[in-house]
Amino acid sequence: MVPITDEASNSFLPLSVVKSSAWWQLLSGVPMRIDILCLFPEMFVSPFSHSIVKRAEENGLVEVVTHNIRDYTHDRHGTADDYPYGGGAGMVLKPEPIFEASEHIGQLTGVQEIPRILLTPQGRPFTQRIAAELAAQPQLMFICGHYEGVDERVAEHMVTDELSIGDYVLTGGEIAAMVVIDSVVRLIPGVLGSDESAADDSHSEGLLEYPQYTRPEQFREWNVPPVLLSGNHGEIAAWRRRQSLLRTALRRPDLLDKLTLTDKELAWISDSLSSQR
Ligand code: ADE
Repeated sequence: MVPITDEASNSFLPLSVVKSSAWWQLLSGVPMRIDILCLFPEMFVSPFSHSIVKRAEENGLVEVVTHNIRDYTHDRHGTADDYPYGGGAGMVLKPEPIFEASEHIGQLTGVQEIPRILLTPQGRPFTQRIAAELAAQPQLMFICGHYEGVDERVAEHMVTDELSIGDYVLTGGEIAAMVVIDSVVRLIPGVLGSDESAADDSHSEGLLEYPQYTRPEQFREWNVPPVLLSGNHGEIAAWRRRQSLLRTALRRPDLLDKLTLTDKELAWISDSLSSQR
């Protein structure tokens, strides 16, 4: 993979670094640009025509541009794939149109050093932390593989990162790119309103989110936990923290291993788990 050079190694922040921060973009009104290279650009129309991604585009916070890899082929049939060298099932995406598309985008935007992310089941597992890192970039490129895969020279000489959205195989990278882009866009500063803050999201602090309730206070014979009606913000925050800890311990104990919890929290989790048995 091609590493991205670290412009920020200077102690004095160059303007190019300041300008590449997500906050500069918000203040200066320059949208984050996301280019998607794929074989089926139509797949992105509906998912990105609704809700938060659409609103972010309308508010000039993000610009999503899809490119059909086939448009960068030069034969009559628009051949984007070919048989694998060495034999085997399936077809492999050719390198030339993918490189050409990427270089064309570089010429259009005048920026060469951007994250170029290949979606593949062989990539590193996508997480909320990676989503937050990507949300701080001014420009991103996603390359969606198809068929049996993508010629390895794309991964070796063009791509800066390879991401997988889970240990299963999709028919192509498009749906994976949608998942990644959706979770990145909602973290771009200014995209979520103050009442939609991402701070309490599951995984934002390495924990699952606490349970949420809305009206009515009583539905059938099930009541909202009384502490949530108490108006005591301290008690509510403490209850939510404990619920997050308990839920994570029960459903995703692997996540707790990565956290530093207080002795009090550890004791509380262990008491709650033993009282549930
Ligand atoms: N392409 C096919 N399967 C995928 C996965 N699990 N993650 C990312 N890209 C993919």
